[in-house]
Amino acid sequence: MHSTFFRDQPIRTGRSNAEDRSTANPVMTNSTLRYVFIGAGAAIVEAHLDALQGLPIEVVGMSDIDTERGSAQAAKARCAFFVNHHDLLRDVAPDVAVICTPHPLHAAHARDCMAAGADVLIEKPMAVDASDADSVIALAERTGRILGVNFQERFRPAVAYARDFIARGELGNLLRVLSVEPWLRTAAYYQSAPWRGTWRGEGGGVLMNQAPHTLDILCHLVGMPKTVWGMTRTRAHAIETEDSAQAMLEYSNGAFGYVTVSTIESGTDKRLEIIGDRACLKLVDDELTILRFDAPIRDHIARSSHLVALPTAHAEAIALEQASQSRHRLAHEDFYQAIRQGRAPWCDGRGGLMSLELANAITLSSFTRAPIDLPLDRAAYGRLLADLRAETHDPSRSNTG
Ligand SMILES: NC(=O)c1ccc[n+]([C@@H]2O[C@H](COP(=O)([O-])OP(=O)(O)OC[C@H]3O[C@@H](n4cnc5c(N)ncnc54)[C@H](O)[C@@H]3O)[C@@H](O)[C@H]2O)c1
Repeated sequence: MHSTFFRDQPIRTGRSNAEDRSTANPVMTNSTLRYVFIGAGAAIVEAHLDALQGLPIEVVGMSDIDTERGSAQAAKARCAFFVNHHDLLRDVAPDVAVICTPHPLHAAHARDCMAAGADVLIEKPMAVDASDADSVIALAERTGRILGVNFQERFRPAVAYARDFIARGELGNLLRVLSVEPWLRTAAYYQSAPWRGTWRGEGGGVLMNQAPHTLDILCHLVGMPKTVWGMTRTRAHAIETEDSAQAMLEYSNGAFGYVTVSTIESGTDKRLEIIGDRACLKLVDDELTILRFDAPIRDHIARSSHLVALPTAHAEAIALEQASQSRHRLAHEDFYQAIRQGRAPWCDGRGGLMSLELANAITLSSFTRAPIDLPLDRAAYGRLLADLRAETHDPSRSNTG
């Protein structure tokens, strides 16, 4: 039986546009799919290439404005190399494009690829502001192209288990969530490419680069909050954007949430707690524990004759079989099957938008010192981002990295 929580908080998985696809994008024949990469020199490309090993696909081209890095990767993959991605799309006419460029370029590159007839897997985050992501989703829906966002952490066995547990209604009415994730990065990391840590080049800091995974898992499991109070700061790194962020959340059923992420701390676990009326779910690193209350907490509160008695409960340590394949591999298999079956991937555009919209709301709240209601006011965030970019430096003119 589904709880009130699910009536109040429908979870947007991104499956919503799957139905439209079957007519717009008919299932393809089983010919080998021809893949290209934009941003060939990106460090993450190696993980994608490993993950694609053994799938019936062929990498037929790559582009990168950095000729040295890009052509070296293309040579390793034994495929054609282009400096300009328009030339790549025109000459190669790929079935699928994987976008690994710096985040502010993701949306424009995705639109170019879809306009050229390719299905698109975008590295996270799908854009740096929600309105740019909206336009990518709209184009995918209009053209029937398959659009995926690479949130591979959704394929962690513990996350999949938690999602099923919640979907079965076993959590009950959501009471509170807590998400704490340290993502330490060094000064050398920020110096490794001129776009990192800049408003123009990266469009944000920890919220745009590392914490999209944290926020995605949160939204994937419990849906979007209705109001966000955010606080972002640059505390320990010589960068323009935030290295620390926290937020208080309120969900439409009244549940509270708290998120804290940074690239400046270490020594703590990665922790997600989801407390419902019927169970409490704790995910610490990859260890999942579930505490089931013998009676829903609200019944216990109403009926117990003791003044401070806790509800009786039993703990279940969940033994999870570790996946034999990497998360990137599972994400690629899902994306490949989505194309073959003409369905949405496990993280489609609407799914990918959730963490971005939440990140934008945290930043907007911090700069305006006010709570932000969701859906996000796109125009207000667009004005803030334009102001931040105007005040800061252009990474393409930097000599660093
Ligand atoms: N899913 C994950 O866990 C994960 C992990 C790492 C990175 N990423 C994402 O991958 C993306 C790349 O990150 P990175 O750290 O590997 O970056 P990187 O700086 O190593 O690489 C980016 C590449 O894009 C190229 N580039 C820039 N502008 C271009 C253009 N107009 N056309 C073609 N190429 C262009 C650069 O020359 C560079 O080679 C980011 O969006 C990041 O968030 C995701």
